[in-house]
Amino acid sequence: MIPIKEEENKRILTGDRPTGKLHIGHYFGSLQNRVKLQNQYETFIEVADVQALTDNFNNPEKVKRNVNQIVMDQLSVGIDPNITTIFLQSMIPEIAELTVFYSNLVTIARLQRNPTVKTEIAQKKELFKESVTYGFLGYPVSQAADITAFDATIIPVGEDQLPLIEQCREIVRKFNSIYGETLKEPKAYLGENKRIKGLDGNEKMGKSLGNAIYLSDSKEEIAKKVMNAITDPARIKKDDPGDPSKCMVAYYHNLFTKNEYENICDECRKGKRGCVACKRQLISSINKELEPIREKRRYYEERPELVREILMEGTKKAQIIAKETMKKVKQAMKLDY
Ligand code: TRP
Repeated sequence: MIPIKEEENKRILTGDRPTGKLHIGHYFGSLQNRVKLQNQYETFIEVADVQALTDNFNNPEKVKRNVNQIVMDQLSVGIDPNITTIFLQSMIPEIAELTVFYSNLVTIARLQRNPTVKTEIAQKKELFKESVTYGFLGYPVSQAADITAFDATIIPVGEDQLPLIEQCREIVRKFNSIYGETLKEPKAYLGENKRIKGLDGNEKMGKSLGNAIYLSDSKEEIAKKVMNAITDPARIKKDDPGDPSKCMVAYYHNLFTKNEYENICDECRKGKRGCVACKRQLISSINKELEPIREKRRYYEERPELVREILMEGTKKAQIIAKETMKKVKQAMKLDY
Protein backbone atom coordinates (compact mmCIF):
# COMPACT_ATOMS: atom_id res chain seq x y z
CA MET A 1 0.00 0.00 0.00
CA ILE A 2 1.32 3.42 -0.88
CA PRO A 3 0.36 6.80 0.49
CA ILE A 4 -1.50 8.74 -2.16
CA LYS A 5 -0.19 12.19 -2.80
CA GLU A 6 -0.49 14.58 -5.67
CA GLU A 7 2.24 13.72 -8.11
CA GLU A 8 2.64 14.38 -11.74
CA ASN A 9 3.06 11.62 -14.29
CA LYS A 10 1.42 8.90 -12.27
CA ARG A 11 -0.99 6.71 -14.05
CA ILE A 12 -3.60 4.37 -12.66
CA LEU A 13 -4.64 1.19 -14.36
CA THR A 14 -7.15 -1.32 -13.20
CA GLY A 15 -9.43 -3.84 -14.83
CA ASP A 16 -12.44 -6.08 -14.57
CA ARG A 17 -13.15 -9.39 -16.23
CA PRO A 18 -16.46 -9.10 -18.08
CA THR A 19 -18.05 -12.22 -16.67
CA GLY A 20 -21.01 -10.68 -14.85
CA LYS A 21 -22.47 -7.50 -13.47
CA LEU A 22 -20.65 -5.77 -10.63
CA HIS A 23 -21.97 -6.00 -7.07
CA ILE A 24 -21.63 -3.98 -3.88
CA GLY A 25 -18.49 -5.96 -2.99
CA HIS A 26 -16.89 -4.30 -6.02
CA TYR A 27 -18.52 -1.01 -5.11
CA PHE A 28 -17.05 -0.76 -1.60
CA GLY A 29 -13.92 -2.71 -2.48
CA SER A 30 -12.80 -0.80 -5.56
CA LEU A 31 -15.33 1.28 -7.52
CA GLN A 32 -15.72 4.06 -4.93
CA ASN A 33 -11.97 4.22 -4.79
CA ARG A 34 -11.69 4.57 -8.55
CA VAL A 35 -14.20 7.37 -8.60
CA LYS A 36 -12.20 9.25 -5.98
CA LEU A 37 -8.82 8.60 -7.57
CA GLN A 38 -9.84 9.59 -11.10
CA ASN A 39 -9.65 13.23 -10.01
CA GLN A 40 -6.08 12.86 -8.77
CA TYR A 41 -4.48 10.70 -11.43
CA GLU A 42 -4.87 9.89 -15.06
CA THR A 43 -6.96 6.71 -14.91
CA PHE A 44 -7.30 3.75 -17.27
CA ILE A 45 -9.92 1.07 -16.77
CA GLU A 46 -9.54 -2.08 -18.81
CA VAL A 47 -12.45 -4.30 -19.71
CA ALA A 48 -10.38 -7.49 -19.60
CA ASP A 49 -12.22 -9.61 -22.15
CA VAL A 50 -9.12 -11.58 -23.18
CA GLN A 51 -8.42 -12.42 -19.55
CA ALA A 52 -12.07 -13.36 -19.06
CA LEU A 53 -11.66 -15.92 -21.84
CA THR A 54 -8.85 -17.68 -19.97
CA ASP A 55 -11.48 -19.39 -17.85
CA ASN A 56 -14.46 -18.84 -20.14
CA PHE A 57 -12.95 -19.88 -23.47
CA ASN A 58 -15.91 -22.18 -23.98
CA ASN A 59 -18.42 -19.40 -23.44
CA PRO A 60 -17.57 -16.42 -25.64
CA GLU A 61 -21.18 -15.17 -25.68
CA LYS A 62 -21.06 -14.65 -21.92
CA VAL A 63 -17.92 -12.53 -22.19
CA LYS A 64 -19.31 -10.48 -25.05
CA ARG A 65 -22.63 -9.91 -23.32
CA ASN A 66 -20.91 -8.61 -20.21
CA VAL A 67 -18.60 -6.09 -21.88
CA ASN A 68 -21.32 -3.41 -22.05
CA GLN A 69 -22.59 -4.31 -18.59
CA ILE A 70 -19.16 -3.62 -17.10
CA VAL A 71 -18.88 -0.31 -18.92
CA MET A 72 -22.35 0.72 -17.71
CA ASP A 73 -21.50 -0.31 -14.15
CA GLN A 74 -18.46 1.99 -14.20
CA LEU A 75 -20.38 4.90 -15.65
CA SER A 76 -23.31 4.51 -13.29
CA VAL A 77 -21.17 4.73 -10.13
CA GLY A 78 -19.59 7.95 -11.33
CA ILE A 79 -16.61 7.10 -13.51
CA ASP A 80 -16.39 10.14 -15.77
CA PRO A 81 -15.59 9.21 -19.36
CA ASN A 82 -14.29 12.73 -19.96
CA ILE A 83 -11.38 12.20 -17.59
CA THR A 84 -11.06 8.41 -17.36
CA THR A 85 -10.18 6.09 -20.22
CA ILE A 86 -12.26 2.93 -20.42
CA PHE A 87 -10.91 0.51 -23.03
CA LEU A 88 -11.30 -3.01 -24.36
CA GLN A 89 -8.36 -5.40 -23.92
CA SER A 90 -8.91 -7.42 -27.10
CA MET A 91 -8.56 -4.30 -29.24
CA ILE A 92 -5.02 -3.64 -27.97
CA PRO A 93 -2.90 -6.23 -29.81
CA GLU A 94 0.25 -4.86 -28.14
CA ILE A 95 -0.91 -6.47 -24.90
CA ALA A 96 -0.84 -9.89 -26.55
CA GLU A 97 2.54 -9.13 -28.07
CA LEU A 98 4.04 -8.04 -24.75
CA THR A 99 2.65 -11.19 -23.17
CA VAL A 100 4.71 -13.27 -25.58
CA PHE A 101 7.88 -11.29 -24.83
CA TYR A 102 7.35 -11.48 -21.07
CA SER A 103 6.68 -15.20 -21.15
CA ASN A 104 10.45 -15.74 -21.43
CA LEU A 105 10.96 -13.92 -18.15
CA VAL A 106 8.83 -16.10 -15.93
CA THR A 107 9.10 -19.77 -15.06
CA ILE A 108 6.28 -22.28 -14.93
CA ALA A 109 7.18 -23.09 -11.33
CA ARG A 110 6.83 -19.43 -10.37
CA LEU A 111 3.38 -19.23 -11.96
CA GLN A 112 2.30 -22.42 -10.24
CA ARG A 113 3.37 -20.92 -6.92
CA ASN A 114 1.31 -17.75 -7.40
CA PRO A 115 -1.23 -18.00 -4.55
CA THR A 116 -4.07 -16.38 -6.51
CA VAL A 117 -3.58 -18.64 -9.51
CA LYS A 118 -3.25 -21.65 -7.24
CA THR A 119 -6.54 -20.92 -5.48
CA GLU A 120 -8.34 -20.27 -8.74
CA ILE A 121 -7.10 -23.46 -10.34
CA ALA A 122 -8.36 -25.40 -7.32
CA GLN A 123 -11.77 -23.71 -7.71
CA LYS A 124 -11.95 -24.51 -11.42
CA LYS A 125 -11.43 -28.27 -11.26
CA GLU A 126 -14.56 -28.70 -13.33
CA LEU A 127 -13.13 -26.65 -16.20
CA PHE A 128 -9.51 -27.74 -16.11
CA LYS A 129 -9.98 -31.39 -15.05
CA GLU A 130 -6.49 -32.96 -14.69
CA SER A 131 -4.49 -30.16 -16.20
CA VAL A 132 -4.70 -26.39 -16.35
CA THR A 133 -4.38 -24.58 -19.70
CA TYR A 134 -1.28 -22.69 -20.70
CA GLY A 135 -3.43 -19.57 -21.09
CA PHE A 136 -4.88 -19.65 -17.60
CA LEU A 137 -1.59 -20.47 -15.91
CA GLY A 138 -0.08 -17.57 -17.82
CA TYR A 139 -2.71 -14.94 -17.16
CA PRO A 140 -0.50 -13.13 -14.63
CA VAL A 141 1.95 -12.56 -17.49
CA SER A 142 -0.82 -11.10 -19.60
CA GLN A 143 -1.90 -8.93 -16.67
CA ALA A 144 1.68 -7.66 -16.39
CA ALA A 145 1.35 -6.69 -20.04
CA ASP A 146 -1.94 -4.87 -19.30
CA ILE A 147 -0.22 -2.76 -16.67
CA THR A 148 3.10 -2.06 -18.35
CA ALA A 149 1.61 -1.32 -21.78
CA PHE A 150 0.34 1.92 -20.24
CA ASP A 151 3.27 2.74 -17.95
CA ALA A 152 0.82 2.52 -15.07
CA THR A 153 2.33 2.65 -11.60
CA ILE A 154 -0.70 2.76 -9.32
CA ILE A 155 -2.89 -0.33 -9.42
CA PRO A 156 -6.00 -0.13 -7.22
CA VAL A 157 -7.01 -3.70 -6.53
CA GLY A 158 -8.45 -6.00 -3.89
CA GLU A 159 -6.21 -8.06 -1.65
CA ASP A 160 -6.63 -11.16 -3.80
CA GLN A 161 -4.77 -9.40 -6.61
CA LEU A 162 -1.60 -8.64 -4.65
CA PRO A 163 0.27 -11.75 -5.86
CA LEU A 164 -0.46 -10.69 -9.45
CA ILE A 165 0.98 -7.24 -8.93
CA GLU A 166 4.03 -8.78 -7.25
CA GLN A 167 4.50 -11.04 -10.25
CA CYS A 168 4.26 -8.03 -12.55
CA ARG A 169 6.92 -6.23 -10.52
CA GLU A 170 9.24 -9.22 -10.88
CA ILE A 171 8.74 -9.31 -14.64
CA VAL A 172 9.47 -5.59 -14.88
CA ARG A 173 12.68 -5.94 -12.87
CA LYS A 174 13.82 -8.87 -14.94
CA PHE A 175 13.01 -7.10 -18.20
CA ASN A 176 14.89 -3.97 -17.13
CA SER A 177 17.90 -5.93 -15.90
CA ILE A 178 18.25 -7.79 -19.20
CA TYR A 179 17.17 -5.22 -21.80
CA GLY A 180 17.90 -1.98 -19.96
CA GLU A 181 15.71 0.40 -17.96
CA THR A 182 12.47 0.47 -20.00
CA LEU A 183 9.42 -0.42 -17.92
CA LYS A 184 8.01 1.13 -14.76
CA GLU A 185 7.48 -0.94 -11.65
CA PRO A 186 3.87 -0.68 -10.47
CA LYS A 187 2.55 -0.66 -6.92
CA ALA A 188 -0.72 -2.06 -5.65
CA TYR A 189 -3.06 0.38 -3.98
CA LEU A 190 -5.46 -1.15 -1.46
CA GLY A 191 -8.55 0.86 -0.58
CA GLU A 192 -9.91 1.16 2.97
CA ASN A 193 -12.62 -1.45 2.60
CA LYS A 194 -11.24 -4.74 1.52
CA ARG A 195 -13.69 -7.54 1.22
CA ILE A 196 -17.45 -7.45 1.67
CA LYS A 197 -19.17 -10.54 3.00
CA GLY A 198 -22.08 -12.11 1.18
CA LEU A 199 -25.73 -12.04 2.27
CA ASP A 200 -25.29 -15.57 3.57
CA GLY A 201 -22.37 -14.60 5.80
CA ASN A 202 -19.81 -16.10 3.44
CA GLU A 203 -16.46 -14.28 3.61
CA LYS A 204 -16.70 -13.48 -0.05
CA MET A 205 -19.48 -11.92 -2.07
CA GLY A 206 -19.39 -13.54 -5.45
CA LYS A 207 -21.31 -13.95 -8.64
CA SER A 208 -20.90 -17.68 -8.52
CA LEU A 209 -21.88 -17.92 -4.85
CA GLY A 210 -25.38 -16.45 -5.37
CA ASN A 211 -25.00 -14.20 -2.31
CA ALA A 212 -24.47 -10.84 -3.96
CA ILE A 213 -26.33 -7.54 -4.11
CA TYR A 214 -25.85 -6.16 -7.62
CA LEU A 215 -25.56 -2.48 -8.39
CA SER A 216 -28.27 -3.03 -10.97
CA ASP A 217 -30.69 -4.88 -8.63
CA SER A 218 -34.22 -3.47 -8.56
CA LYS A 219 -35.97 -2.38 -5.36
CA GLU A 220 -37.90 -5.66 -5.37
CA GLU A 221 -34.74 -7.72 -5.72
CA ILE A 222 -33.05 -5.82 -2.86
CA ALA A 223 -36.10 -6.33 -0.63
CA LYS A 224 -36.22 -10.03 -1.34
CA LYS A 225 -32.51 -10.53 -0.73
CA VAL A 226 -32.41 -8.54 2.51
CA MET A 227 -35.49 -10.31 3.86
CA ASN A 228 -33.63 -13.60 3.37
CA ALA A 229 -30.34 -12.42 4.89
CA ILE A 230 -28.87 -14.33 7.81
CA THR A 231 -29.62 -12.90 11.28
CA ASP A 232 -28.60 -14.09 14.75
CA PRO A 233 -30.09 -17.61 14.80
CA ALA A 234 -30.49 -17.57 18.61
CA ARG A 235 -32.92 -14.70 18.41
CA ILE A 236 -36.44 -16.03 18.10
CA LYS A 237 -38.77 -13.48 19.67
CA LYS A 238 -38.61 -9.79 18.98
CA ASP A 239 -37.51 -8.92 22.51
CA ASP A 240 -34.81 -11.59 22.76
CA PRO A 241 -31.42 -9.89 23.07
CA GLY A 242 -29.59 -10.18 19.74
CA ASP A 243 -25.93 -10.46 18.80
CA PRO A 244 -25.23 -8.09 15.89
CA SER A 245 -21.88 -9.77 15.26
CA LYS A 246 -23.83 -12.83 14.07
CA CYS A 247 -26.18 -10.84 11.85
CA MET A 248 -25.63 -9.91 8.21
CA VAL A 249 -28.27 -7.19 8.44
CA ALA A 250 -26.20 -5.42 11.10
CA TYR A 251 -23.09 -5.98 8.98
CA TYR A 252 -24.70 -4.19 6.04
CA HIS A 253 -26.11 -1.42 8.22
CA ASN A 254 -22.47 -0.69 9.01
CA LEU A 255 -21.95 -0.03 5.30
CA PHE A 256 -25.24 1.61 4.34
CA THR A 257 -26.58 3.16 7.59
CA LYS A 258 -23.20 4.04 9.04
CA ASN A 259 -24.31 6.98 11.19
CA GLU A 260 -26.84 4.94 13.09
CA TYR A 261 -24.86 1.74 13.30
CA GLU A 262 -23.94 1.97 17.01
CA ASN A 263 -27.50 2.75 17.94
CA ILE A 264 -28.86 -0.10 15.81
CA CYS A 265 -26.51 -2.60 17.50
CA ASP A 266 -27.38 -1.23 20.93
CA GLU A 267 -31.12 -1.64 20.35
CA CYS A 268 -30.57 -5.14 18.98
CA ARG A 269 -28.52 -6.21 22.00
CA LYS A 270 -31.23 -4.92 24.32
CA GLY A 271 -33.99 -6.69 22.41
CA LYS A 272 -35.58 -3.39 21.51
CA ARG A 273 -35.45 -3.78 17.74
CA GLY A 274 -37.30 -6.36 15.73
CA CYS A 275 -35.48 -8.07 12.86
CA VAL A 276 -38.21 -7.29 10.33
CA ALA A 277 -38.15 -3.55 11.08
CA CYS A 278 -34.37 -3.67 11.07
CA LYS A 279 -34.41 -5.31 7.61
CA ARG A 280 -36.91 -2.75 6.30
CA GLN A 281 -34.63 0.04 7.44
CA LEU A 282 -31.68 -1.62 5.69
CA ILE A 283 -33.69 -2.01 2.46
CA SER A 284 -34.42 1.68 2.53
CA SER A 285 -30.74 2.59 3.21
CA ILE A 286 -29.52 0.39 0.37
CA ASN A 287 -32.08 1.86 -2.00
CA LYS A 288 -31.06 5.37 -1.00
CA GLU A 289 -27.47 4.60 -1.96
CA LEU A 290 -28.34 2.69 -5.12
CA GLU A 291 -31.07 4.93 -6.52
CA PRO A 292 -28.76 7.54 -8.08
CA ILE A 293 -26.66 4.68 -9.47
CA ARG A 294 -29.75 3.03 -10.96
CA GLU A 295 -30.84 6.29 -12.45
CA LYS A 296 -27.52 6.80 -14.22
CA ARG A 297 -27.58 3.20 -15.37
CA ARG A 298 -31.02 3.67 -16.88
CA TYR A 299 -29.68 6.68 -18.77
CA TYR A 300 -26.95 4.58 -20.33
CA GLU A 301 -29.13 1.52 -20.85
CA GLU A 302 -31.35 3.68 -23.02
CA ARG A 303 -28.32 4.84 -25.02
CA PRO A 304 -26.33 1.74 -26.07
CA GLU A 305 -24.71 3.73 -28.89
CA LEU A 306 -23.27 6.18 -26.39
CA VAL A 307 -21.88 3.35 -24.26
CA ARG A 308 -20.22 1.86 -27.31
CA GLU A 309 -18.82 5.22 -28.33
CA ILE A 310 -17.30 5.78 -24.88
CA LEU A 311 -15.60 2.38 -25.03
CA MET A 312 -14.34 2.90 -28.59
CA GLU A 313 -13.03 6.41 -27.91
CA GLY A 314 -11.23 5.15 -24.80
CA THR A 315 -9.81 2.23 -26.75
CA LYS A 316 -8.47 4.57 -29.43
CA LYS A 317 -6.65 6.59 -26.82
CA ALA A 318 -5.30 3.44 -25.18
CA GLN A 319 -4.06 2.15 -28.56
CA ILE A 320 -1.87 5.21 -29.03
CA ILE A 321 -0.17 4.75 -25.66
CA ALA A 322 0.31 1.00 -26.09
CA LYS A 323 1.96 1.62 -29.49
CA GLU A 324 4.45 4.02 -27.90
CA THR A 325 5.32 1.44 -25.26
CA MET A 326 5.74 -1.25 -27.91
CA LYS A 327 8.21 0.93 -29.73
CA LYS A 328 10.33 1.34 -26.59
CA VAL A 329 10.12 -2.36 -25.78
CA LYS A 330 11.12 -3.43 -29.28
CA GLN A 331 14.05 -1.05 -29.27
CA ALA A 332 15.22 -2.45 -25.95
CA MET A 333 14.83 -6.01 -27.23
CA LYS A 334 16.60 -5.29 -30.51
CA LEU A 335 13.45 -6.01 -32.45
CA ASP A 336 13.22 -2.53 -33.96
CA TYR A 337 13.20 -3.33 -37.64
N1 TRP B 1 -7.45 -9.87 -12.62
C1 TRP B 1 -8.32 -8.78 -12.32
C2 TRP B 1 -9.56 -9.35 -11.62
O1 TRP B 1 -9.89 -10.51 -11.78
C3 TRP B 1 -8.75 -8.00 -13.54
C4 TRP B 1 -7.61 -7.32 -14.24
C5 TRP B 1 -7.21 -7.55 -15.53
C6 TRP B 1 -6.74 -6.33 -13.72
N2 TRP B 1 -6.17 -6.77 -15.86
C7 TRP B 1 -5.84 -6.01 -14.78
C8 TRP B 1 -6.62 -5.67 -12.50
C9 TRP B 1 -4.81 -5.07 -14.61
C10 TRP B 1 -5.60 -4.74 -12.33
C11 TRP B 1 -4.71 -4.45 -13.39
O2 TRP B 1 -10.22 -8.63 -10.91
